[in-house]
Amino acid sequence: MFMKYFVTFSVIVVGISATTIEYDYETAKNLTSDYCYIKSYNEAPAIVKKCTHIVVTGFEVPAGKTLELNLLKQSVLLFEGTLTFGVAHWDGPFTHITGQNIQVIGGTNHVIHGHGEKYWDGQGDSGGVKKPRRVLSVQVQKAIFKNINIKNCPLFCATALGHDITFTGFNIDNNDGFKNGVARNTDGISFAQCSNIIVKDSKVYNQDDCVNILGGCKNVYVENVHCWGSHGLSITSGMATTADKNDIYNVTYQDCSIGGSYAGIHVKTTQPCLGPGTIRKITYKNIQITDVIRDAIEIQQDYPKNDGNSANKMAMTEVNLIDVTGSVTGSARRVRINCGSGSCSNFRWSNVKITGSKTDDSCNYIPSGYSC
Ligand SMILES: *[C@@H]1O[C@H](CO)[C@@H](O)[C@H](O)[C@H]1NC(C)=O
Ligand SMILES: *[C@@H]1O[C@H](CO)[C@@H](O)[C@H](O)[C@H]1NC(C)=O
Repeated sequence: MFMKYFVTFSVIVVGISATTIEYDYETAKNLTSDYCYIKSYNEAPAIVKKCTHIVVTGFEVPAGKTLELNLLKQSVLLFEGTLTFGVAHWDGPFTHITGQNIQVIGGTNHVIHGHGEKYWDGQGDSGGVKKPRRVLSVQVQKAIFKNINIKNCPLFCATALGHDITFTGFNIDNNDGFKNGVARNTDGISFAQCSNIIVKDSKVYNQDDCVNILGGCKNVYVENVHCWGSHGLSITSGMATTADKNDIYNVTYQDCSIGGSYAGIHVKTTQPCLGPGTIRKITYKNIQITDVIRDAIEIQQDYPKNDGNSANKMAMTEVNLIDVTGSVTGSARRVRINCGSGSCSNFRWSNVKITGSKTDDSCNYIPSGYSC
């Protein structure tokens, strides 16, 4: 009660920004009776220009169109119902949200349904029919996205750019794509060029990186995220020509689990690596890994070929693992570390215990606290 009163009081008296207080759906719905309802694609542009309290209801966005939600400052946007998108072989994204100091909250039964099953052909991004990328694309400053349900992404689910962003209560369900390996490159939640990010309390069932922190990101905290399928709790760089776009600094994954994936913990830079940069101060803490297909822990600078021909244009330092446990089966390995010549340093690992592997670790750099 006290907290509730205090929160209400501070809104009125101090007028702090909307994003300072995290609403749940019910509270958000009660803020005003004057919500504007977007009930069709054509209504969206006028409504987002005039309303700060918006409900996006269930409807179909016409094939080949992006639902653009360029929100006014301090907007509260609610998703209700099932949002779908006509089938077209184009680039996407399906939904694009921009804004400052905004909150986007999903109602209990809402779903943003990408109908990936109408596109999947087992070839993902590298062949077959053209598949729209990104069911949800966001470019925001100070934003909370809460309880967002995304189903069947054709390619990539949610991607974000910006700063001071929280994603919480995401439920990404690409389970239909496991059958016969039809879905590929359905990355769950990806951030690039970002700072001050929180991702928490979420579930991702997909067929590429579960959460992926890309170049240009700093101060990222991922907590209580559970992944199945996927390629890993990932950090990826090397695709840009300048350090500011490649650098990744201060990323923590904590209290997460991952299973049925190619890798569990996955830190990778590309070969060829297009520019300089540094990956620094990375922490994985209390991570549970089960039944990976390739490597429970993979730190590599030869991505994606995995041929041992690693690049050393980017440095990796302070990649620290604490309490990483789990088990693998079959020919899966516990650990693969393949660094470029001289480019890895100061990795500290403690209590890293993966059991069940019949294949030896493969490391060309050895972290302190772990015998490879
Ligand atoms: C929302 O408003 C309804 C009707 O006034 C009320 O019964 C309910 O408790 C409110 N919920 C919240 C979370 O404020
Ligand atoms: C690292 O990022 C976290 C947020 O995830 C932040 O609280 C912390 O202050 C940052 N630490 C440094 C040394 O920048």
